[in-house]
Amino acid sequence: MTLQASTSSPAPDAPDPVARGPIETVSVDIKGAPYEIHVGPDLLASAGERIAPLLKTPRVIVVTDETIAPLHLAKLQASLAAGGIEQDAIVLPPGEQTKSFGQLTDLVNALLDRKVERSTTLIALGGGVIGDLVGFAAAITLRGLPFVQIPTTLLAQVDSSVGGKTGINTAHGKNLVGAFHQPVLVLADTKTLDTLPDRELKAGYAEVVKYGLLGDRAFFDWLEEFGEAVLAGDEKARTTAIVKSCEAKAGVVSRDEKEAGERALLNLGHTFAHAYEAECAYSGLLLHGEAVAIGMVNAFDLSRALDLCAEADVAAARGHLHRVGLPVTPPPINGKAMDPERLMHHMAGDKKVSGGKIGFILARGIGEAFQSRDVPPEAVRDVLTKAVAAKVI
Ligand code: NAD
Ligand code: GLY
Repeated sequence: MTLQASTSSPAPDAPDPVARGPIETVSVDIKGAPYEIHVGPDLLASAGERIAPLLKTPRVIVVTDETIAPLHLAKLQASLAAGGIEQDAIVLPPGEQTKSFGQLTDLVNALLDRKVERSTTLIALGGGVIGDLVGFAAAITLRGLPFVQIPTTLLAQVDSSVGGKTGINTAHGKNLVGAFHQPVLVLADTKTLDTLPDRELKAGYAEVVKYGLLGDRAFFDWLEEFGEAVLAGDEKARTTAIVKSCEAKAGVVSRDEKEAGERALLNLGHTFAHAYEAECAYSGLLLHGEAVAIGMVNAFDLSRALDLCAEADVAAARGHLHRVGLPVTPPPINGKAMDPERLMHHMAGDKKVSGGKIGFILARGIGEAFQSRDVPPEAVRDVLTKAVAAKVI
């Protein structure tokens, strides 16, 4: 399957999209809730003029975290002020733990304290944690407020800010409470990535690779050539990678907003990843994108074990992720290898379980992913057992 783009895109072998100008636009054609993703450098500086025409009333509440606020909030606020927009800011603690019932309650109360109306727009300035939490608060406060995503991590720019999945984690697992709520605009300012720690950048890159692995061999090949440039901060390569990823995701969610079918492919590696994250108690031991990198390798291992894909494809997927510095096997916890049975237990609680069967995304090769609910549990257990025992992390 080749992912269809909703706009014309730079050829995958061309690292230079500049012919179309430094700011690229991708359309997300969701029925009843279409919106645009703008990608390029210094978008924060023009955020006010981009957002103003979309506002029902000229009032916004920006929500961000304590790490991002000192780096990027002032620039956004100046731009909103220049656009004549009344504004307020709420700053939350950083990290995965913020995607919780407690923080959701505090955030909704803070919004109500500020007398938000249904015409007040929220702006999520941050990574996937802020985007998911603020999107969910927007979905439920006053039964629905408009919101804008301004993603500041690579992961959020290529994945979480697009497609309207919002939510929080619970003691039962990741993203188990949430809503589909589409933003009215996404502004992916590539300059904000300059302040992102290298480990976070790489974790986001795993989700870029995901689009190649699941549906676009040519994009994977392009990443083999230009992936290092994307990570090194080459502006053109970076913009191309983000635009290609957003086009891929926009195409999928436009055709299947609520994950009735095709959208599930975007979960390549995620059933494994969520189990690893749960086992690490959502600590910094494993970032979400790192867990996805390991999970995608597991998905290819599983596909190979089921005789669906060639060993060369498994090696290419693992090799690429390993070469850029992503983990490809799960890390030990306190010096002890993770327990495959506990991981199996986490998987059984995944929200994609249906009729007691766990959904897996498998692949017939690079760029040829498909969904299956007929995976024998012993094959999964075997992949996990080998993964936790492997030396390369
Ligand atoms: P994150 O939001 O926790 O951000 C990572 C860290 O980087 C945080 O400490 C943050 O403060 C910091 N940071 C963010 N931007 C920065 C910047 N420009 N400069 C310096 N520091 C910065 O993590 P993430 O990887 O962006 O998102 C992970 C979350 O996204 C997970 O909860 C995952 O479940 C979710 N997710 C959601 C979807 C979706 O479709 N909704 C898709 C993929 C992932
Ligand atoms: N990240 C998976 C999705 O948006 O569907």
